[in-house]
Amino acid sequence: MYYDNALTPSFFFSTFAHSKMLNPFNPSPLQKLEDDFLVEKGIELYIKRDDLIHPEIQGNKWRKLKYNLFEARLNGIHTLLTFGGPYSNHIYATAAAAKLFHFRAIGIIRGEEPTVLSPTLKFAESKGMELYYMDRESYRQKDDPTNLESLRVQIGDFYLIPEGGTNPLAVEGAAEIIEEIDIPFDYICTAVGTGGTLAGLVAGLKGEKQAIGFSSLKGEDTLTAKVFELSEFVTGFHYNNFSINFDYHFGGYAKVKPELIAFIKDFKLKYNIQLEPVYTGKMFYGLFDMIKNDRFTRGSRIVALHTGGLQGLSGFMDYFPGLELS
Ligand SMILES: Cc1ncc(COP(=O)(O)O)c(C=O)c1O
Repeated sequence: MYYDNALTPSFFFSTFAHSKMLNPFNPSPLQKLEDDFLVEKGIELYIKRDDLIHPEIQGNKWRKLKYNLFEARLNGIHTLLTFGGPYSNHIYATAAAAKLFHFRAIGIIRGEEPTVLSPTLKFAESKGMELYYMDRESYRQKDDPTNLESLRVQIGDFYLIPEGGTNPLAVEGAAEIIEEIDIPFDYICTAVGTGGTLAGLVAGLKGEKQAIGFSSLKGEDTLTAKVFELSEFVTGFHYNNFSINFDYHFGGYAKVKPELIAFIKDFKLKYNIQLEPVYTGKMFYGLFDMIKNDRFTRGSRIVALHTGGLQGLSGFMDYFPGLELS
């Protein structure tokens, strides 16, 4: 809804033909969060509302897909193939983007074909994505060149977007978030899964200020190395002005606790901004906790990235019957 007038495929690709840097969805809004507790702590907090970019291709999904779509089109490839679980935000967004920009889309889904499709898979099918199911053992080998080759034999040529959408072009897309922020700031925060979005922020910061990632997964010792590797690949520099906080994963990926759900409900009530429990809820919970515990010096200005993920909310609620967010 938000930037719908900019969404035609011809606008998208003609824009790109002229300038790689133009974002066809326009900069997402930067919203100041007003709260007495922030005033008391001497902190200014802004939210970069990437959740408003598009109802179906929102947040970091759009940032990550953008240059990949362009690359596929540039190379004359008309089929996108990607991987994901039955509740994957990435599958959801790729299906929507493929439809919008006129690609054929293939989704390779982890696990056996379910008798009842998850809301995410139903949505993907409604957008014309062709779904294939891969048993968990084969799925673990999905990136193996022989496996990809046999998929090419079955399906024909395709542009491969990795699971979660993270690759160097995704990092370039996420780096543009920094260019859009037109106020001075000290910190930028994001939720972390694969580390692609954080790597993009690090690339965009070019060694200035600090990026803080909040991991949604339990201690992943390879994650920091991955952020270094991706940001270095894209920029040619070894930037170390970032950290990843592993204190707020609430037990691991897609695990929730009552205090997290209470926080998300309260956030919606106070600020009228919806979060979800897998990524953004954990990041904002962690950030608020750090502010309350004086982990930022007075006078700091923080930008927190709302990476979206709300399109997966109905899928998540389906996964946890009885969980209510509002
Ligand atoms: C809403 C949301 N926020 C944050 C992330 C984490 O992003 P990344 O995998 O780039 O670390 C994801 C996962 O892709 C996500 O869906």
